[in-house]
Amino acid sequence: MQRSPDIARFLKTTSLTLALLFGFGAAGPAGAAGDEDTADEPQYSRGVKQCMACHKEGREKPAHEVFFTTMGITGDPSSPFAEGNHDCEACHGPSAHHIRKQKDGTRLPPTVTFSDKEPVETQNAACMSCHTDAGRFHWPGSTHDLEAVACVDCHDVHAANDPVLALETQPEVCYQCHQEQRAQFLRQSRHPVQGSTASLSHVGLLGCTDCHQPHGGPGPANLIRNTINEQCYDCHAEKRGPFLWEHAPVQEDCSNCHVPHGSNYENLLVARQPYLCQQCHLGNFHVSAVYSGSGLPPEGRDQRMLGKQCMNCHVQVHGSNHPGGITQTR
Ligand code: HEC
Ligand code: HEC
Ligand code: HEC
Ligand code: HEC
Ligand code: HEC
Ligand code: HEC
Ligand code: HEC
Ligand code: HEC
Ligand code: HEC
Ligand code: HEC
Repeated sequence: MQRSPDIARFLKTTSLTLALLFGFGAAGPAGAAGDEDTADEPQYSRGVKQCMACHKEGREKPAHEVFFTTMGITGDPSSPFAEGNHDCEACHGPSAHHIRKQKDGTRLPPTVTFSDKEPVETQNAACMSCHTDAGRFHWPGSTHDLEAVACVDCHDVHAANDPVLALETQPEVCYQCHQEQRAQFLRQSRHPVQGSTASLSHVGLLGCTDCHQPHGGPGPANLIRNTINEQCYDCHAEKRGPFLWEHAPVQEDCSNCHVPHGSNYENLLVARQPYLCQQCHLGNFHVSAVYSGSGLPPEGRDQRMLGKQCMNCHVQVHGSNHPGGITQTR
C-alpha cells in the first residue's frame, strides 16, 4: 500500500469510531460472526454483515455468491465465516478503512483486492493462511508457484461453481495459458479431454487433473504419479505386465513411442510406422531394413515387405506372455 501507515491507522480508527458511534453500515441486527474481535482489532470491520450492506445481490459489485461455495459453510470451524475468522477479511485482509469514504470522497480499497497489480505472494498468502493441508504439500517450489501463478488465476472463489473444479469446464481455464495443449487436444488421435472436438464421442471423459496435479506433484511435468509410466498404468493397467518377454522401451518410458495429449499419427504415436520402429531397429536380416530400398520393385519383390509393416507380425509390441513370444509375434 502506498499511503503512510500512520495515516492509514488514523483513518482506520476514525472510520471505526464513526461506525460505532453512528451505527454506520449496520445492515441488520448486530452479532455477525467476528463482531466481538473488533474491539481489540480496530483494523477489522464489524464483519460480514457490514460488508454485505454494500455488496449484496444487485449492487455494483455483488459478493453474495461466496456463500454458495464450500467456504460459505459456517458450521466448519475453519470457514472464513466461522466464529473469529474475520469473514470476508480472512481473504481481503483487515479493511475497516474501506468502509467509509475519505474526506475527498474517494474510498480506499480493501487491503487485498486480488487485482493483477498486487504481488502474487500477497494474494497467495491470503489463501495459504488456511490451505496448507496435504492438497498444497507440493505447492512451494512447484512450477506454477515458481512461475508466479496466483491461486485465483485458476480459482474463482466467488462463483457458486468454481469452473476449474468441474471436468467439463476445467480445460478452458488451463487453456488460457496453455494454448499449445489446446491445439494438441484437437489432433485426430487424442485423449478424450473436453474441448478436444465436440463432434467426436468420448469427449469430456478426462480432465487435465486425471494426470496432472496443478498444485505441484512428485513426478515430472506436475504429474500425480512419480513417473510417466506409473501415470499411464492408472488407466492402462494391462500395459504394466508383468510380461514373460518384455519390450525394453515400453518398460522404460511410454513416451518413447507415445505423446500424452494428442498426435496426428494414430494411437498417439510419436511417428508413423515403420519409422517408429526403425528409430531403434535396423538390421539386414529381415524386413526391419526393407525401407532402405532394397527388395523393392523393380529389383526385388520381397513379399514380407510389400504392403506390410512391423506391426503386422510383431503384434505384441508392449510385451508378450506367450512362451514363444520372444520376438513379440504372438
Ligand atoms: C459503505 C459501502 C461499502 C461497504 C460497507 C463495503 N464496501 Fe467494498 N466497495 C464499495 C464500493 C462502492 C466499491 C466499488 C469501488 C469503489 O467505489 O471504490 C467497493 C469495492 C470493493 C472491492 C473491490 C475493490 C477493487 O479495487 O477492485 C472489494 C474487494 C470490496 N469492496 C470488499 C469489501 C469488504 C471485504 C467489505 C467489508 C469489510 C466491504 N467491501 C465493505 C462499498 C462498500
Ligand atoms: C476465500 C477468499 C474470499 C472471501 C472469503 C471473500 N472474497 Fe471477495 N474476492 C476474493 C477474490 C480472490 C477476489 C478477486 C476475484 C477475481 O479476480 O475474479 C474477490 C473479489 C471481490 C470483489 C470484487 C468483485 C468485482 O466484481 O470486482 C468484492 C466486492 C468482494 N470480493 C467482496 C467480498 C465480500 C463482501 C466478501 C464477504 C461476504 C468476500 N468478498 C469474501 C476472495 C474472497
Ligand atoms: C479462513 C480460512 C480460508 C481462507 C482464507 C481460504 N479458504 Fe478456501 N476453504 C476453506 C474451507 C474451510 C473450505 C471447505 C473445506 C475444504 O474444502 O477444505 C475451503 C474450500 C476451498 C476450495 C474447495 C471448494 C470446493 O468446492 O471443493 C477451494 C478451491 C478454495 N477453498 C480455494 C481458496 C482460495 C483460492 C483462497 C484464497 C483466495 C482461499 N480458499 C482462502 C477455508 C479458507
Ligand atoms: C494451475 C491452476 C491452479 C492453481 C494455480 C491453484 N489451483 Fe487449486 N485446484 C486446481 C484444480 C484443477 C483443482 C481440482 C483438483 C482435482 O479435481 O483433483 C484444485 C483444487 C483445489 C482445492 C480443493 C481440493 C483440495 O486439494 O483440497 C483447494 C482447497 C485449492 N485448490 C486451493 C488452492 C490454493 C490455496 C492455491 C494457491 C496456493 C491453488 N489452489 C492454486 C487448480 C489450481
Ligand atoms: C495463469 C497462467 C496459467 C494457468 C491458468 C495454468 N497454468 Fe500451467 N503453467 C503456467 C506456466 C507459466 C508454466 C511454466 C511454463 C510452461 O511450461 O508452459 C506452467 C506449467 C504447467 C505444467 C508443466 C509443469 C512442468 O514442471 O513441466 C503443467 C503440467 C501445467 N502447467 C498444467 C496446468 C493445468 C492442468 C492447468 C489448469 C488446471 C494450468 N496449468 C493452468 C501457467 C498457467
Ligand atoms: C493422459 C494424461 C494427461 C492428460 C489428460 C493431460 N496431460 Fe499434460 N502431460 C501428460 C504427460 C505424461 C506429460 C509429460 C510429457 C513429457 O514430459 O514427455 C504432460 C505434459 C504437460 C505439460 C508440459 C509441457 C509438455 O507438453 O510437455 C503441460 C503444460 C501440460 N501437460 C498441460 C496439460 C493440460 C492443460 C491438460 C488438460 C487440457 C493436460 N495436460 C492433460 C499427461 C497428461
Ligand atoms: C485417467 C485415465 C487415463 C490415463 C492416466 C491415461 N489414459 Fe490413455 N486413454 C484413456 C482413455 C479414456 C482413452 C480413450 C479410449 C477410447 O477412446 O476408447 C485412452 C486412449 C489412449 C490411447 C489410444 C488413443 C487413440 O487414438 O485411440 C493411447 C495410445 C493411450 N491412451 C496412451 C496413454 C499413455 C501413453 C498414457 C500415459 C502418458 C495414458 N494413455 C494415460 C485414459 C487414460
Ligand atoms: C515401442 C513403442 C511403444 C512403446 C514404448 C509403448 N507403446 Fe503403446 N503402442 C505402440 C504401438 C505401435 C501401438 C499401436 C498398436 C496397434 O496398432 O495395434 C500402441 C498402442 C497403444 C494403445 C492403444 C491400443 C491398445 O493396445 O490398447 C495404448 C493404450 C498404449 N499403446 C499404451 C501404452 C502405454 C501405457 C505404454 C507405456 C507402458 C506404451 N503404450 C508404450 C507402441 C508403443
Ligand atoms: C526407443 C527404442 C525402440 C523402439 C522405438 C522400438 N524398439 Fe524394439 N527393442 C528396443 C530394445 C532396446 C530392445 C531390446 C533389445 C535386446 O534385448 O537386445 C527391443 C527389442 C525388440 C524385439 C525383440 C528382439 C529380441 O531379440 O528379443 C522386437 C521383435 C522388437 N523390439 C520390435 C519392435 C517393433 C516392432 C517396434 C515398433 C513398433 C519397436 N521394436 C520399437 C528398442 C526399441
Ligand atoms: C512378415 C513378418 C515380419 C515383419 C513384417 C517384420 N518382422 Fe521382425 N521378425 C519376424 C520374425 C518371424 C522374427 C523372428 C526371426 C527369428 O527368430 O529368426 C522377427 C525378428 C525381429 C527382431 C529380432 C531379431 C533378433 O535379433 O532376434 C527384430 C528386432 C525385428 N524383427 C524387428 C522388426 C521391425 C523393426 C520390423 C518393421 C520394419 C519388422 N521386424 C517386420 C517377422 C517380421
